[in-house]
Amino acid sequence: MSAGLELKNLTKSFFGASKGETVTAFENVSFGVAPGEFISLLGTSGCGKSTLLRVIAGLETATHGEALCDGVPITGTDPKRNLMFQEHTLFPWMTVRGNIAFALKGARLYERERSGIYAWLEMAGLTEFAKSYPHQLSGGMRQRAALVCALASSPDALMLDEPLGALDSFTRMTLQDELIRLWREKGNTMLLVTHDVDEAIYLSQRVIVMSPRPGRVSEIVGIPLSYPRNRADRDFAGLRARILKRLDYARDTQEDYAI
Ligand SMILES: Nc1ncnc2c1ncn2[C@@H]1O[C@H](COP(=O)(O)OP(=O)(O)OP(=O)(O)O)[C@@H](O)[C@H]1O
Ligand SMILES: [Mg+2]
Repeated sequence: MSAGLELKNLTKSFFGASKGETVTAFENVSFGVAPGEFISLLGTSGCGKSTLLRVIAGLETATHGEALCDGVPITGTDPKRNLMFQEHTLFPWMTVRGNIAFALKGARLYERERSGIYAWLEMAGLTEFAKSYPHQLSGGMRQRAALVCALASSPDALMLDEPLGALDSFTRMTLQDELIRLWREKGNTMLLVTHDVDEAIYLSQRVIVMSPRPGRVSEIVGIPLSYPRNRADRDFAGLRARILKRLDYARDTQEDYAI
């Protein structure tokens, strides 16, 4: 199952947040996500990406505008729309295995997929740590555990807030492939926040580039490459250059190398 999302002129301000001043996290954000689509949100720190995911998850209400899931206004949380937090929380009093079992129970998949816990543990490279508690893991291990819990919960729309941020590049690439494999198998709607341009291009069908705070949609870039993608591909490089330029990080190479 997958869910369609629609954001219409969404604005979120926090009143009295900073020395009594109003902080507008994002402004006038409008875009749609088709059921089963994989979208990434890219933008500089503080442009409101996490806040936007929290609004879609129903944890915050927008100041203006409307967020719809399958045509129905979002007014609160719903297990159909699951968010993996940037702080990738695990329940500290449960083992890794217990956390995965809890995610499967939440999705009413536990009875059917009880034995599947070990497949999830293996995917995260945490088989040996099944009985460990979160505080006994490294930061990257905790992140992997939280990611498989989010994936095991199999929601119709899954929002992932920098799920691979703390990982070394090799583990990161492996989990990117797992993410694509699972998404293609389950067909759920994915909304991923990342700072990594290559990750956004490698994974998603469309990349939403946001401007600095207050975040606005600066450009929506379609990624017309078939899966699996090749990071060394010319078209990949072209998209990378275009997005970097849009993010204002692109430099004039000629100027750079002229001494
Ligand atoms: N609960 C809150 N109360 C007050 N201000 C908040 C709150 N949550 C977020 N903000 C502000 O909203 C702005 C956007 O924050 P947000 O966490 O959404 O950014 P972000 O794009 O996810 O950044 P990062 O890439 O660093 O994670 C920031 O200026 C932040 O201080
Ligand atoms: Mg954030």
